[in-house]
Amino acid sequence: MVCLGNICRSPMAEGIMQVLLDEKSINGKVDSAGIADYHEGDHPDRRAINTSKEFGVDISRQVSRPILERDLVEFDYIFTMDTMVHDHIISKWSHHPGIHKVHLFLKFAGSVKGPDYNVPDPYYGGVLEFRNVFGILEKGCEKILDKIAAT
Ligand code: 4NP
Repeated sequence: MVCLGNICRSPMAEGIMQVLLDEKSINGKVDSAGIADYHEGDHPDRRAINTSKEFGVDISRQVSRPILERDLVEFDYIFTMDTMVHDHIISKWSHHPGIHKVHLFLKFAGSVKGPDYNVPDPYYGGVLEFRNVFGILEKGCEKILDKIAAT
């Protein structure tokens, strides 16, 4: 799961997906990263931690890190939170053999919030924006797991 700073959207997506994997006893590895390193080493944003906790997901121990080239080797799927993040990764590693693993989260998931494939960035919002994003990510993660399970 990849966003800009790896302190709001992708940590929540990682936490939600981990809970779904645990609930369904699926043996998979999920991680998250950002394309920017300015929050490297930080725990998720307090609002992301609190919103996730409200819905029973503990993301408090996650630590922000930038995406690395080896992620395109190690993981089967890379899910990007918006088109800006997506385009950045595609252009940075355009010739990498693992580049086909990179998918826009909402495009891969299918209809979650219409034809707009951007998970809104809640960083400049408040608790309502964080809750809205959590709901989008929860629906998206369920659809992604169903789609992967069906292939
Ligand atoms: P994220 O949100 O990409 O969902 O983690 C942001 C986090 C930090 C900043 C912007 C967005 N920032 O400008 O520091």
